Amino acid sequence: MKEKLEILKHKIAEAELGGGKKRIDDQHKKGKLTARERIHFLMDEGSFEELGMFVTHRTHDFGMHKEQYLGDGVITGYGTINGRMVYVYSQDFTVFGGSLSEAHATKICRIMDLAMENGAPVIGLNDSGGARIQEGVVSLGGYADIFYRNTLASGVVPQISAIMGPCAGGAVYSPAITDFIMMVENTSYMFVTGPNVVKTVTHEEVSSEDLGGAMTHAVKSGVTHFTALNEIDCINQLKKLITYIPQNCEEPAPVYAYEHRDETLKGIENIIPENPNQPYDIKEIISRVIDTDSFYEVHKNFAENIVVGFARLGGRSIGIVANQPAVLAGVLDIKASVKGARFVRFCDAFNIPLLVFEDVPGFMPGTDQEWNGIIMNGAKLLYAFCEATVPRVTVITRKAYGGAYDVMNSKHIGADMNFAWPCAEIAVMGAKGAAEIIFKKEITTAEDKEAKLKEKELEYLQKFANPYGAAARGYIDEVIKPEDTRMKLLKTFAMLQNKTVKAPKKKHGNIPL
Ligand code: HXC
Repeated sequence: MKEKLEILKHKIAEAELGGGKKRIDDQHKKGKLTARERIHFLMDEGSFEELGMFVTHRTHDFGMHKEQYLGDGVITGYGTINGRMVYVYSQDFTVFGGSLSEAHATKICRIMDLAMENGAPVIGLNDSGGARIQEGVVSLGGYADIFYRNTLASGVVPQISAIMGPCAGGAVYSPAITDFIMMVENTSYMFVTGPNVVKTVTHEEVSSEDLGGAMTHAVKSGVTHFTALNEIDCINQLKKLITYIPQNCEEPAPVYAYEHRDETLKGIENIIPENPNQPYDIKEIISRVIDTDSFYEVHKNFAENIVVGFARLGGRSIGIVANQPAVLAGVLDIKASVKGARFVRFCDAFNIPLLVFEDVPGFMPGTDQEWNGIIMNGAKLLYAFCEATVPRVTVITRKAYGGAYDVMNSKHIGADMNFAWPCAEIAVMGAKGAAEIIFKKEITTAEDKEAKLKEKELEYLQKFANPYGAAARGYIDEVIKPEDTRMKLLKTFAMLQNKTVKAPKKKHGNIPL
């Protein structure tokens, strides 16, 4: 037995060394942790149980049978983060560049199956050169096996992808199907084809960083939801993210203790400028209303005219969707609509109530928006809100104009409660545009056209630039003092806690993609 235990000990030591000391040193020199170090920092101490430590690849081509590494370039297993079960895979760049072989893929699929069967999140730590080139189609099949499971698991258990190195070729599509992507600045990138292929096909010269680095995907494409300064920051953010979300679609998100405070928000109304055309930062309002320091913004650098993110209210998770008057006056354009829609659908899939702050002048006009499909893309946000069955509350802080009034979680599309501040303006369009259309004849025939326009503009403003027309019809449940907002929301979400809605029977809807 002693001898056999020695063999086991040696095999474990061999597996733990991955691709060897030199390659580990190279990894460190690039400012990257190894796959095992990442797991060590991510999981509760001593909680990680590794599965498939001795799995090896089965390839003989290109002399591969002479190069075997225990684990075959991915560490898989389960354990806890702050006491909650998660399933994890961590690709080991020191073994064939973390590339995906048949065996490597089977290991990932196994933990995804376990996560589905047991209802817990999957976290993937990606650091891979893509398909194992020596294996050919077998490796492609392995990717497809993962994509299939990603899709089946979507909406059942949360799936989170951290990109901590290269992520090239079809490898990007597994993260793309998962719920959240987090990229590490300067050491990670994602693209379907790298700079060399780009140069050959389109004659563009571009660096890996510009083509698919963390900030490129955070600002331009919106592919990544979060960026991290370094790997430790990334791991800490992963831990933070899962505090807001439940284990699976049948459970509520965890509830945290919070200290009761004076719930009145003295002076919050002063954030709104006297002039309705002046901007203000909606995040100032968000941070006053929610539990102290509880906002975790998603897609912070992308489509900043809409703000989305997780927060806590009375210790419970909520998802916030808010127009941002400080950027493009908070207008809804294609990117903002898609960003909002995806977040709404995640929250709805995982039982996270939605809180909307509305100050929106409408949808963005123009050929660029029309030709790129603002109709279909705006409809995504509309559809996402319409189908959401979680508790849904809206606070109109100022403008609610046009179709955007309907779209931004109005009661007509299933919101449970709509509040408005006294400065709210709820109308089909801005007063000037409205006056120019409906009083066109009176204005053009008047001798003093400018004065007539001003007069009619004022008339429209007085009639509609307030919340009382909507309140008279019950579209707005209550016009509230801004300082009471938090108190009202605490009561409202508590009242809606047991909300159940039976959606009509269907296979699945057909969101305008
Ligand atoms: C096998 C690979 C590999 C791969 C890297 N390696 N990628 N082995 N299959 N795909 C190995 C290298 O041979 C090397 O082995 C080690 O990993 C480290 O690679 P380096 O090139 O030395 O590292 P670095 O300079 O940091 O460059 C990393 C890299 C580069 C940018 C990822 O290796 C690269 O471009 N690899 C190929 C990427 C690629 O085209 N993948 C296929 C994409 S197509 P040694 O022994 O020297 O340590 C795809 C299809 C999926 O993925 C389709 C799904 C639908």
